[in-house]
Amino acid sequence: MNCKICKTKGIKKNAIVNLPSYNLSLCKEHFIEWFERRVQNTIKDFQMFTKEDRILVAVSGGKDSLGLWFVLNKLGYNADGIHIDLGINDYSKKSREYVEEFAKKIERKLYIVDLSTEIASISILKEKIPNKPPCSICGIIKRYYMNKISKKEGYNTLATGHNLDDEISVLFGNILNWNLDYLSKQYPILKEYENIFVRKVKPYCRITEKESALYTFLMGIKYIEQECPLSTGATSLKYKKILGDIEEQFPGTKLRFFNNFLRKFYPLLANKITEENLQRCKICNEPSSLEICAVCNIKMKLAKL
Ligand code: AMP
Ligand code: FES
Ligand code: ZN
Ligand code: ZN
Repeated sequence: MNCKICKTKGIKKNAIVNLPSYNLSLCKEHFIEWFERRVQNTIKDFQMFTKEDRILVAVSGGKDSLGLWFVLNKLGYNADGIHIDLGINDYSKKSREYVEEFAKKIERKLYIVDLSTEIASISILKEKIPNKPPCSICGIIKRYYMNKISKKEGYNTLATGHNLDDEISVLFGNILNWNLDYLSKQYPILKEYENIFVRKVKPYCRITEKESALYTFLMGIKYIEQECPLSTGATSLKYKKILGDIEEQFPGTKLRFFNNFLRKFYPLLANKITEENLQRCKICNEPSSLEICAVCNIKMKLAKL
């Protein structure tokens, strides 16, 4: 197959990727151009941030977040990184190494939060708090530190590498269960809230996992390919597989599902978001729906053991 853009210029060049949902085949050069334009347009369409904003990218060491950190800097944005070392054996060790190496390469500031010194590693928490799934504890802790460090270090925007496949698998699950509360918060940009929550953005929300992996690979970025060992069997992975099967039969479904949710359904819920129960944790002063936040609660539980 030949590159469609090259063809319009009268050049015959082999395509390296076929994107059936856009009816597009592209050579390396035009894929890179297409990808970067797509990220740039997403940032503009959702008014995520400008060149004046101070952005902190949450970098896990995987293809999405490392690629995102790279592309934001390439596009001229002011983006540093934060990595949470989860302490999940070799997986976390390797992830941290990739992130640290990459930060040096692009000469950007990197903040590391080491859970084993801050609270306890996820491996230990999994054993000590067996009645809660480790992924849910992990999610709570990650969000807590990302928000806290962003504010403390003076960043007004926190960017994560959630891609289209991540977004629609969560969307799918929330629709199957009609979780209106979660659906009302599922938007590619969540505005800052009274110095309590920093602005959160997902510039890869219209980029598929496959497109993201290809871009990161083409940019020569080394990333951890292994999935978190604690996520095997996660429902979201099963939903991704189902949605992938549908996409194969009906190209463009993923993007349509996501775009139409934002355009047709989200507006019905958007203004229903209330922060009524929001208060500040009595211990750490971070946002919480209860007197004591979930992270301080975990710390207290651990201290009692
Ligand atoms: P996941 O929930 O693992 O699919 O990750 C979604 C996004 O959260 C990633 O693209 C990163 O931006 C961020 N993230 C996940 N794990 C970490 C971590 N350990 N440190 C920093 N950011 C992370
Ligand atoms: Fe959090 Fe696996 S448990 S990334
Ligand atoms: Zn081309
Ligand atoms: Zn607290």
